[in-house]
Amino acid sequence: MTGGGSRATAARDAHDDERYDATPFLPERGGLPAHRRAAADCRGCPLHRYATGTVFGRGPAHARLMLVGEQPGDREDQEGKAFVGPAGRLLSKALREAGIDEEDAYLTNAVKHFKFTEEPTRKRRIHKAPSPREALACRPWLLAELRLVSPAVVVTLGATAGRALLGPSFRVGTDRGVPRPLPAQGPDGGSVDGVRVLPTVHPSAVLRAPDRKQMYEGLVADLRTAAGVLEDTAG
Ligand code: URA
Ligand code: SF4
Repeated sequence: MTGGGSRATAARDAHDDERYDATPFLPERGGLPAHRRAAADCRGCPLHRYATGTVFGRGPAHARLMLVGEQPGDREDQEGKAFVGPAGRLLSKALREAGIDEEDAYLTNAVKHFKFTEEPTRKRRIHKAPSPREALACRPWLLAELRLVSPAVVVTLGATAGRALLGPSFRVGTDRGVPRPLPAQGPDGGSVDGVRVLPTVHPSAVLRAPDRKQMYEGLVADLRTAAGVLEDTAG
């Protein structure tokens, strides 16, 4: 029955050929405000169809510290602001304990639209991890933020952000807590010379962890390491 098989293959190929890429939506010039405005209309992958809106990064335009999460959550999607829900509250607390002023940091996400499944009986939207393809599609926005903010230190929170900047072989479990140079990010990445990356766990993972206290302490310790690297790079 090759007919049915090839039709199925054709359908799958059509789907695979649909291009997931934010690049056509990026402005050719302009700073963060221009990028924020343009990102509001991004249709670089299917996630924009279901979410309320794009959640772009926030914070000082030339922050020396940039924090990269996974994607906006339910609250972030409703308010249009990164890290304002439960994970954001935990992150704020951890930053304070690590001696980092949140106001000094640029906070963003690897993926700019909330991905979720509906649970009609409970009227809840359940967070769903973005696919590697969606994360790759959204990466041009992250690279633009990296180029424009030009931080000295980037903290990646969780696997999605870690992979976005350190490559597909990145593993939180083994790679977290150790500062390293930011690898070259391709043509859109701008100059990354001297930028240090400190990968750590995601605050949402801390909220879900059975050993929450220990994992939280680990997050704070990693943020302290990031603060130390920041001091070392101050000049
Ligand atoms: N989790 C994230 O990764 N980012 C947010 O902005 C909120 C929750
Ligand atoms: Fe564009 Fe990123 Fe939203 Fe996909 S998730 S539509 S690439 S902003």
